[in-house]
Amino acid sequence: MQPQTESTIDALLAWRREFPILDRTTYLISHSLGAMPRGAAQSVAEFASTWAERGIRAWEEGWWELPVTIGNLVGRIIGAGEGEVVMHQNVSICQSIVTSALDWSGRRNKLVTEGLNFPSNDYIYHGLARLGARVVEVPSPDGRTLPLENLLAAIDEETLLVSISHVAFRSSYLQDLDAITRRAHEAGALVIADLYQSAGTVPVDVRALQLDFATGGSVKWLCGGPGAGYLYVRRDHWNHFEPIFTGWAAHEQPFQFAAGPIRYAQDARRFLNGTPNIPALYSARSGYEIIHQVGVEAIREKSIRQTALLMSLADEAAIPVRTERDPARRGGVVTLDVPDGARVTHELARREVLVDYRPGAGIRISPHFYNTDDELSHAVEEIQRCRAS
Ligand SMILES: Cc1ncc(COP(=O)(O)O)c(C=O)c1O
Repeated sequence: MQPQTESTIDALLAWRREFPILDRTTYLISHSLGAMPRGAAQSVAEFASTWAERGIRAWEEGWWELPVTIGNLVGRIIGAGEGEVVMHQNVSICQSIVTSALDWSGRRNKLVTEGLNFPSNDYIYHGLARLGARVVEVPSPDGRTLPLENLLAAIDEETLLVSISHVAFRSSYLQDLDAITRRAHEAGALVIADLYQSAGTVPVDVRALQLDFATGGSVKWLCGGPGAGYLYVRRDHWNHFEPIFTGWAAHEQPFQFAAGPIRYAQDARRFLNGTPNIPALYSARSGYEIIHQVGVEAIREKSIRQTALLMSLADEAAIPVRTERDPARRGGVVTLDVPDGARVTHELARREVLVDYRPGAGIRISPHFYNTDDELSHAVEEIQRCRAS
């Protein structure tokens, strides 16, 4: 009989060999930049050889379609159908496209955002005040959590858009997207969800949730390269929205180069703009394929177990934990309140333990499907050593 080692119990550890950096570091920073899959290097090389060998023909041999074909790979992870996700450079661009398609000049001009949202989203929203938007922020009482009832109470008949971060970047607080979307729809409002910190570690089904818009990016839990963000728009909305932030790729017949106002494409391409970021899309592909193969349900099951383990290790070491204990309210990150957290994080990196620090939050540590339990113990031990020295 084979001895029961961690790798025979935890089948997900077989994926470790696909991520070279795991051989050299204790990699616990997938909430910021997921480990690079070996396949990403091959994919980027394929981009270069296609460019070199096929030249201009590469556009019609796949490049032009990449924002949709790569979007389909993301769609499988977040529950979207074929053609319902288009790729962009980042979340900030996706947010700008969506909000540029809404009319902020009427009586229904309220944009409800929340205190845990990513700052870049709010920067864009506050700019919309110039177009008539009334931005209402539901504050977080403690910088980490947000009572659902406060959010629900802010949504009314004058609300045009509700913007929610599914999992908060600072504290990993997991919000009840379903309840918020139902309330928004009752009030006749639309919802845009930022899935950056959930997709790939927390199961998401954009169609079951009936989200109107969803966006996120590739680095972090999806293990893609930088410069690839995705935008989902509910299919039955396509023909109702005409983004002002647009470009020739959003035209029904882009290669006619027609003058005058745009005639929008009849599908999700209408949310595109200019030339897509082709190398970034190549660099993101392998991560999306692996996450789909591993399955987010299995990733989540392991994440709940390992984040709980990490919190109990921190408890034993008397390190204050700033993460929700209830797994239904937490994403994939555990935040530890370590004095002098920035310097400790720097020293951990020198010791090949990769985590990060956010002011007002603490040291953020995130096990992903490829991490071992031993790596968690090692990280906590190293934090103790840094604190002692
Ligand atoms: C929840 C969330 N939204 C948005 C962003 C930033 O997105 P982008 O740089 O793609 O605009 C981040 C990055 O850390 C994030 O965590």
